[in-house]
Amino acid sequence: MIFCFSGNGNTRCIAGHLSQMLGHELIELRGKWLTDTGSCRIDIPHGEDVIWMFPVYSWGVPPAVRDFIRDIKLQADADTCHHMVVTMGDDSGLTDKMWRKLMAGRGWTSASAQGVIMPNTYTLMKGFDVDNPDVARHKLHQAMNALPSVADTIRSRKCVTSIHRGSFAWIKSRIIYPWFVKYAVTPHKFHAHDCIGCGRCVQVCPMDNITLNDSAPYSPTWGDRCAICLGCYNVCSRHAIEYSSATADKGQYHYIPDLAD
Ligand SMILES: Cc1cc2nc3c(=O)[nH]c(=O)nc-3n(C[C@H](O)[C@H](O)[C@H](O)COP(=O)(O)O)c2cc1C
Ligand code: SF4
Ligand code: SF4
Repeated sequence: MIFCFSGNGNTRCIAGHLSQMLGHELIELRGKWLTDTGSCRIDIPHGEDVIWMFPVYSWGVPPAVRDFIRDIKLQADADTCHHMVVTMGDDSGLTDKMWRKLMAGRGWTSASAQGVIMPNTYTLMKGFDVDNPDVARHKLHQAMNALPSVADTIRSRKCVTSIHRGSFAWIKSRIIYPWFVKYAVTPHKFHAHDCIGCGRCVQVCPMDNITLNDSAPYSPTWGDRCAICLGCYNVCSRHAIEYSSATADKGQYHYIPDLAD
């Protein structure tokens, strides 16, 4: 069983491939899975492992995924192993350790923890922007090439960690990540201009957090339930969405299959 959280399509893309390679069902973590986790229950098929797939957020586990892991009712064999495959623009910090701790907190056995570098989606801080198209294309090719080995590692059920933690991992994950969770996961800085009412931001939002009025002038409204995935910002073909002034002059990236060809 694969659980996949993805705001901009990178993680969803490789989760789809791994689902085919491993013959595991893929559940996309969005909508009720995230907003009403307490009422959800999942039976893991006999003999199957669980694979957790999500993007790295601020060198840690996205808070929406962390909460899902803590709250979901899971029925599985006693010897079921849990694996992690994250996607990230550059480096993961100590995300693997954070995830192993979450697994241990549920009494689950964590096996492999792997990271795949993919195009960056983060634009909210000074100095951070999406990759230029050539870099994005290169990262996608590398990611696709890495998948057979990622699948083999999962099949081996070994407790291995294969991930690029990067420099200053402790500071990034233990100091900056808690700050990010406390202060940066807020939708109240989103606003839109020149909206044409296409509804793509509403559809892409994994938290069902955006509403749109049904006649011109169109203007999306953000509720309180945001995973800060930036799916809404990145998917808007008009580049109509901004996050305070942080995204002025920043680019957009959303996975489209053609890029990986
Ligand atoms: C809020 C946020 C924080 C991020 N933090 C990191 C990070 O700490 N390290 C990193 O390498 N990439 C970071 N990224 C980039 C994403 O992890 C990466 O682009 C990922 O592949 C996006 O996956 P998705 O398309 O499934 O949403 C961040 C992206 C967002 C939206
Ligand atoms: S994606 Fe952009 S143009 Fe479409 S409804 Fe949302 S803000 Fe408006
Ligand atoms: S409001 Fe935007 S950033 Fe927040 S969860 Fe929805 S799509 Fe992601």
